[in-house]
Amino acid sequence: MAIRLWALCLTLAATNAVPSYYDGYQTVDRPTQPVQMRIAYNGPYGVTVSWNTFQQIQRPTVRFAEEPYFLYRTASSEDSTTYPTSLTYSNHVRLNGLLPDTQYYEQYLIDGSNSSQPLSFRTAKEAGNHEPFTVGVVVDMGTFGPLGLSTATGVGAANPLRPGEHTTIQTLSQQLSELDFVVHPGDLSYADAWLKEEIQRYLPNTSRIDNPTVYEHINNAFYDELVNITSYKPYMVSPGNHEANCDNGGTKDKTNGVTYTEAICPVGQTNFTGFRNRFRMPSGPSGGLENFWYSYDYGMAHFVSIDTETDLGHGLTGPDEGSPEFSGPFGLMNQQLDWLEKDLASVDRRKTPWVVVLGHRPFYNSAGGICTNCSANFEPLFHRYGVDLYFCGHSHVYNRNAPIYNNVTDPRELNNPNSTWYIVNGAAGHYDGLDTLNYPLMPYTRYAQDQDYSFSKLIFHNCSHLTQQAVWSSNGSVYDEATLFKDRDCAKGLWKE
Ligand SMILES: [Fe+2]
Repeated sequence: MAIRLWALCLTLAATNAVPSYYDGYQTVDRPTQPVQMRIAYNGPYGVTVSWNTFQQIQRPTVRFAEEPYFLYRTASSEDSTTYPTSLTYSNHVRLNGLLPDTQYYEQYLIDGSNSSQPLSFRTAKEAGNHEPFTVGVVVDMGTFGPLGLSTATGVGAANPLRPGEHTTIQTLSQQLSELDFVVHPGDLSYADAWLKEEIQRYLPNTSRIDNPTVYEHINNAFYDELVNITSYKPYMVSPGNHEANCDNGGTKDKTNGVTYTEAICPVGQTNFTGFRNRFRMPSGPSGGLENFWYSYDYGMAHFVSIDTETDLGHGLTGPDEGSPEFSGPFGLMNQQLDWLEKDLASVDRRKTPWVVVLGHRPFYNSAGGICTNCSANFEPLFHRYGVDLYFCGHSHVYNRNAPIYNNVTDPRELNNPNSTWYIVNGAAGHYDGLDTLNYPLMPYTRYAQDQDYSFSKLIFHNCSHLTQQAVWSSNGSVYDEATLFKDRDCAKGLWKE
């Protein structure tokens, strides 16, 4: 196995030797063949279909309809973009005027003709539809396999997969029929780990010329692997630090006594460049900004994605803001906060009684990494507008806290609290492994684990009950479960928030 892995790595490093249309995980015959297909909600009656190709497409076009055999509708765009160092182009087409909660089929046009196999997705339940649904939540989930987390380790790396152990992507794929859609609030591919993987001799050293290719191979391997999920279920992302950074900026090669700066990183790696190109989150319909902050409704819930990395407002700097390695601000002063307040204030709680915010960094956590600038800005708004749940990661542990505001635990706990519920599950897995809990745990923490990889499910039962399950990635079983109760009369649709 070790020999095979090494041989593969060497093949990747020798970029001139690989086929033209090899992206780190798979090879395709034609440069216009779609790879990495993904769907995102876009307003109440739309989705954005995105995919990558090895060649720019003049006019990305999708045929679609409710039946797979007669795709009578067509949508197209001129949105086929790339960035320095990328090996592919990201193509985006918006499909509008769709029926809610309806199965659609779509085909991608390749060189003027249809692709062979139609894919299928389901549109969002309309706001005000109070039928139950389930959302998959992964945070800090990076590349699995020989370019990321596997059963092999580099020198000094920890938490490899056990032989035969399922990855989060594999388990999520097995359970996909249970999920309506998947959210990934930050730290997506961990392609920036290429530097650490080379220093730790997990991947062979490459020259400065080849470094960007290794970075992009990892990036593509992640989205290729994820296609089992994203081509069937909408995949909604938020920015995390690994969308901007250079493996935390100061990676040390202790063996050779070298500390790398951001100068080692390819230009396409920094400044959220790939993240801005690869996705088209619904900031247009919700008045947000690019993929940084936006919102959307699904049935009885209003989902908000915030940017904890930049643009915190009130003169506070985001953790990833300002340095040459990092980036932002992307909006005007206070733009994100002003938007968030307006967005939360405009929620019709009779239609969407649940309000859930997804962001990357924790405000409350027993493993450190707390973003105090984030909580200073966002927490008062969460409290003022009755946000039910804030779900995040960044810390590579699972940490379910009590509802809390301003460091005071809500005495009602999960029984109709006045405060927002805070959950961290950044343990979905990537080359860097897991973090460590600090003991004693914080007094507000109700359950935590730092032993194994996991993801979460949010089960919206009705207007008053929301269950969060923490699931082992290795076997798909639930290891922690808690239900939030809000005292709302679902039958009447009348309650006070
Ligand atoms: Fe992070």
